[in-house]
Amino acid sequence: AAIKKKSKVIQNERIEEGIYDLWLKAEEMASIARPGQFVSLYCKEGGRLLPRPISICEIDKKTGKIRLVYRVLGKGTKEIAHLKSGDLIDCLGPLGNGFNLEGKKALIIGGGIGIPPLFELAKQLDCEKNIVLGYRDITFLNKEFEALGDVYISTEDGSAGTKGNVLDVIKKYKLTADIIYACGPSPMLKGVKEYATINNIKAQLSLEERMACGIGACLACVCKSTEIDHHTKVNNKRVCKEGPVFYADEVVL
Ligand code: FES
Repeated sequence: AAIKKKSKVIQNERIEEGIYDLWLKAEEMASIARPGQFVSLYCKEGGRLLPRPISICEIDKKTGKIRLVYRVLGKGTKEIAHLKSGDLIDCLGPLGNGFNLEGKKALIIGGGIGIPPLFELAKQLDCEKNIVLGYRDITFLNKEFEALGDVYISTEDGSAGTKGNVLDVIKKYKLTADIIYACGPSPMLKGVKEYATINNIKAQLSLEERMACGIGACLACVCKSTEIDHHTKVNNKRVCKEGPVFYADEVVL
């Protein structure tokens, strides 16, 4: 079950242009959180408290801390970027389902701000790992991933690694796997799903649908499912509640 609590900011640093790295003291959340889950931070926008769902990048159960690496996109995240160590922020989590740890040879694929939630996954996966990180231009977290597996990079402008996208890297280096884990924008996930289907590889995809409430109530985040729910007779799934992680064959992208 999710916990709602004021959490103390341990540190909140800008690591790249528009990308911030936040550590929160949140003992209970850290003790139950799984890779791929997210938390909602509550921001005071126009006097109302609005949730900003952010994926969990790292979990330190020993010291009771969670790490969120996020991109500043609007008012809410701008407010979060201004938090200083010692500040308190309302936090609800962990939310969503998270990844299932499985397989002997994993291909971990992240695009842009879809990269952070794969960090804790890569830490916890105890198997052979190839990690492919796709960026537009500025890279982040890639050095930290190097301690966890073989890292390959793509950038759209070719300023680092292979010029192109994550699929260009996978084809170039002929990377194989028995399980794919991916998180990133939907065109990337669509490409990954196609690649996984053609090559008959099981894939878990974490969807980055725009979320609002984060708790299954507003339906802002629905995606198309391949199955019809027996009770509700609809083929929608809420990314924040039934996801954000789905098996590739469960969702239409
Ligand atoms: Fe409101 Fe998912 S964000 S239902």
